[in-house]
Amino acid sequence: MKKILITGGAGFIGSHVVRLFVEKYPDYHIYNLDVLTYAGNLENLKDIESKSNYSFIKADITDADKMNALFNEYQFDGVIHLAAESHVDRSISDPLAFIKTNILGTVNLLNAARATWNEQMQDKLFYHISTDEVYGSLGETGLFTETTAYDPRSPYSSSKASSDHLVRAYHHTYGMPVVISNCSNNYGPNQFPEKLIPLSINNIKNKKPIPIYGKGENIRDWLYVLDHARAIDMIYHQGKNGETYNIGGINEWTNIDLIHKLCEVMDQKLGREKGESAKLITFVKDRAGHDMRYAIDATKLTQELNWEPSLQFEEGIEKTVDWYLANEEWLENIISGDYENYYKKQYNEL
Ligand code: NAD
Ligand code: DAU
Repeated sequence: MKKILITGGAGFIGSHVVRLFVEKYPDYHIYNLDVLTYAGNLENLKDIESKSNYSFIKADITDADKMNALFNEYQFDGVIHLAAESHVDRSISDPLAFIKTNILGTVNLLNAARATWNEQMQDKLFYHISTDEVYGSLGETGLFTETTAYDPRSPYSSSKASSDHLVRAYHHTYGMPVVISNCSNNYGPNQFPEKLIPLSINNIKNKKPIPIYGKGENIRDWLYVLDHARAIDMIYHQGKNGETYNIGGINEWTNIDLIHKLCEVMDQKLGREKGESAKLITFVKDRAGHDMRYAIDATKLTQELNWEPSLQFEEGIEKTVDWYLANEEWLENIISGDYENYYKKQYNEL
């Protein structure tokens, strides 16, 4: 039985990847390693927690000794590394947490893998999950390709860029078998309501202001989370050693257009009058250093591994809204407690 370590599996994307692997590969044992920060939530995996090919390990990737001990004990065959501090706004108020988890944590995993795999690396794989934000910010035209020069501009994207470089360094220096993928903005069920879409769904539902940074002209390329999980599955199994793959939705929206679309869907689902939710849109102070536009060229992944997004945005956003409306308890459990403090601090003008 292959032993696969998935880090950050209690988070948004990680939980979808864990479920996909546990269900699709009964001959793999999936170890979900997560320290359960504010963003980690085992409720995300309730439906698969008793499967015999699944185990949860509560551990912190910043703890080098613990990582070495775990690799020694379990002798993992492969790693899919998603654990990270992931929210740009939090990286602006607390960069150090991002340096510790995203950089140091990644190096701890690389060191533990290297020490355990030693000279027998040929059938092993360290798959590092990264972001399109490492490439910086685009103007009105152009797309990020795998050869676009790195130009990270926030503490979050700089920490992710740094971890990408270290993963490549372990490949070149020590012969570690690695793949990296850089994905655009994900949306879908189980996303923590600090990110634009779930935060807005929650606020619309509760008739609270929807905070739009600046003029809402910034552009993101949105991908349904299950399409990202499918891409990760393909890259893990068919990606070439040492290669990088960009993953994107071919689905660019300005924030303001996206929120108008979301308001339309929410009005319909909540039986509200057309235009009612859009009245909640409130322009607030811009994010510091706010990247203007991200957009991915996923040609390599499409041509080499035959991947493409399966869902149109209209369908994906409806599914997402349906999930949040059907899972009120999941949302309520999050928005009480610490979330309130975060929200007050981040959106104090509202
Ligand atoms: P998330 O914040 O929802 O989840 C992160 C998970 O990592 C949480 O479960 C958290 O508890 C865990 N974690 C954090 N610090 C840890 C530590 N020190 N030790 C162990 N576990 C720890 O993040 P997400 O949105 O699911 O993103 C997952 C990965 O995908 C990240 O590496 C992120 O950079 C990358 N990514 C995200 C997006 C996106 O749109 N969300 C897009 C591209 C890439
Ligand atoms: O591009 C991939 C990245 O996408 C991932 O690497 C990150 O982990 C993920 O958080 C996401 O980063 P963004 O900063 O693009 O996502 P966020 O949902 O925070 O913001 C999306 C856009 O919406 C961005 O232009 C900022 C804006 N925004 C965000 C929030 C939270 C607002 O206008 N108002 C808000 O309240």
